[in-house]
Amino acid sequence: MYLSKETIDRIQQSTDIIEVIGDFVSLKKKGTNYWACCPFHHEKSPSFAVNPAKGIFKCFGCGKSGDSITFVMEHEGLAYPEAMKYLARKYSIEIIEDRPPNPEEQQKASERENLYLVMAFASKFFQKQLLEHEDGQALGMSYFKERGFSDQTIRTHELGYSLNEWDALLNAATEAGFSESILEKAGLIVSRENANDSSKRKHYDRFRGRVMFPIHNLSGKVIAFGARMLSNEKTQPKYLNSPETDIYSKSKILYGIYQARNFIRQEDNCYLVEGYTDVLSLVQGGVGNVVASSGTSLTVDQIRLVKRYTENITVLYDGDNAGIKASLRGIDLILEEGLNVRVVLFPDGDDPDSYMRKVGATAFQEFVKKATKDFITFKTELALQDAGADPLKKAGVIRDIVESIARIPDAIKRSVLFRQCSTLLQIEEQVLISEYNKIELKRLKDKKAPNDHTAEEPTFFPSDSYPDYGQENGTSSLDEPGISTEEKLQEAHEWSMLQLLVNYGAETLEGKISLAEYVLSETEEVEGRSEIFKLAVEAMKQELAKGNQITRAFFLEHPEERLRKLAIDFSIEKYSLSPKWESKYFIFIPSFQELIHINAPKTILRYKRVFLKVLIQEARQKLLDVKEPEEMETLLKQLMELQAIYKQINTLLGIVVG
Ligand code: CTP
Ligand code: MN
Repeated sequence: MYLSKETIDRIQQSTDIIEVIGDFVSLKKKGTNYWACCPFHHEKSPSFAVNPAKGIFKCFGCGKSGDSITFVMEHEGLAYPEAMKYLARKYSIEIIEDRPPNPEEQQKASERENLYLVMAFASKFFQKQLLEHEDGQALGMSYFKERGFSDQTIRTHELGYSLNEWDALLNAATEAGFSESILEKAGLIVSRENANDSSKRKHYDRFRGRVMFPIHNLSGKVIAFGARMLSNEKTQPKYLNSPETDIYSKSKILYGIYQARNFIRQEDNCYLVEGYTDVLSLVQGGVGNVVASSGTSLTVDQIRLVKRYTENITVLYDGDNAGIKASLRGIDLILEEGLNVRVVLFPDGDDPDSYMRKVGATAFQEFVKKATKDFITFKTELALQDAGADPLKKAGVIRDIVESIARIPDAIKRSVLFRQCSTLLQIEEQVLISEYNKIELKRLKDKKAPNDHTAEEPTFFPSDSYPDYGQENGTSSLDEPGISTEEKLQEAHEWSMLQLLVNYGAETLEGKISLAEYVLSETEEVEGRSEIFKLAVEAMKQELAKGNQITRAFFLEHPEERLRKLAIDFSIEKYSLSPKWESKYFIFIPSFQELIHINAPKTILRYKRVFLKVLIQEARQKLLDVKEPEEMETLLKQLMELQAIYKQINTLLGIVVG
């Protein structure tokens, strides 16, 4: 790969980081930055930030950061030139064409890149056979036409045909410079021992005489194939699929996601079907936001893939699908990931593909609109049909439904569903809720630690060092063993607030109350953690009661030595601007102070959040020891209230917790 300096410059100038990252994750604008759940580590609330002006991204959870190019490299596992090529293609920038790699270059390039190259080659080869080879036309193309696929569908989904020969691809690929070993690693050829000479292996094409459905990753690269036989006879498996390779993991990708992703975002919904042909039929019928799990049960990774673009999944079921019951469990997984699930059941004997062909695009879309059901409603109705009038079975249904609802992380959604199901099941809501409480309690007992992936945003002031104002003897409780992260964090936030108070205690917020008054009133109900914070709060209260302002001088001249020390530490150079800076960059000074107005409330909210976390942990701990059912109810109620407040704070902080 050779890129001229001009090409590189043009790529760098044209690249818009929001567009680039937006292709892979769903970004939401908040202030100057865009936020998302980090694609590099698992999290439930967004700590991945993108700054369009600077052209950089940073995750406050896992620490990954970089620009558009590094993002593409990291996310897609590409080397630098490949990432540049990807961006060039995205922005239609002309680049020097590459040629088939020579053996030496092949050695040098990473194996993954080679796998991508060989898969791209194979995909082109299969397409060419379909369009140009006599057999491709007579067998492959006529099969697709018979199934009603248009030229456009064939093109956009890069469908192909593998000749019914043992070495068609093998020969073409080796001629183009690919080694047998890379072809085998890519799962395109298979080998077996040579019958005459056991020291040699015989290689042959894996896919023969089949129509080829390439599977693309999110950047549009072919990573695997599904290959269908042309007849419906049962002598061979109907579909042959690529094995797992270094670039293909079946459980992590969905068929059609590359072509569907923008439609999914636009429609804010993703249709989930079972097969390749279902996807293609729907696309052709004007439903672009569709992907397939390719016959396997849905995995968490696949759900998270969809979650990058939308929170809504609609599962389309075959009418005669005996596996509906089994797949209901898979759907509970979707609920657990916080997505909304809806379900469409097709009439007996039809799958989405056959139904589309039967009734046409307009009637299909109308049917889907009419037949779409909320998952819980669907499941309830299905279970009720089964249970009939049997009261024992009905009790089982209730437990089952409540278990599904319990997986939904959002409390508001849960309560709406309890109400709905109470009507459907003709049972009091309270019964459902107490069933839910039982499940919650069991879950809590099974897993003691609160399940919270909230990443702490950095605080406004540098809080890299927490000096020892803690105890009289001068040691900080931060070093004590057995102190939880939350408690440490609480202390760190107290430290941040003290910094604010010493430096800006008399500043007025929105022209009304002073920062000191604000902090004190806001933290009244919070029990401070560090001694120094409690001491400072007490001292400030007294001073404010006298009608005085809280100034730096107040701290500097305070009779209590620890408060004086605190003030001195916060007043020294480290946090003030040098005169040179003032004259040179004086513009920054007012804006720096303005930041207090935004950051003081945030600092307090963060502090409260950590405090609540501690309370929640304590409440959970208590729940584990409690025996009396009544006491348990009260505690559960308290816990839920605490969690609700915790959530509210997160919302105020602009952190949406799923
Ligand atoms: N599948 C597979 N191997 C099989 C059968 C099925 O990998 N032997 C996967 C394929 O991804 C297929 C999906 O499961 O698309 C659904 O299977 P099925 O409903 O049998 O296939 P359709 O997609 O309906 O294919 P067709 O309409 O061509 O029969
Ligand atoms: Mn089918």
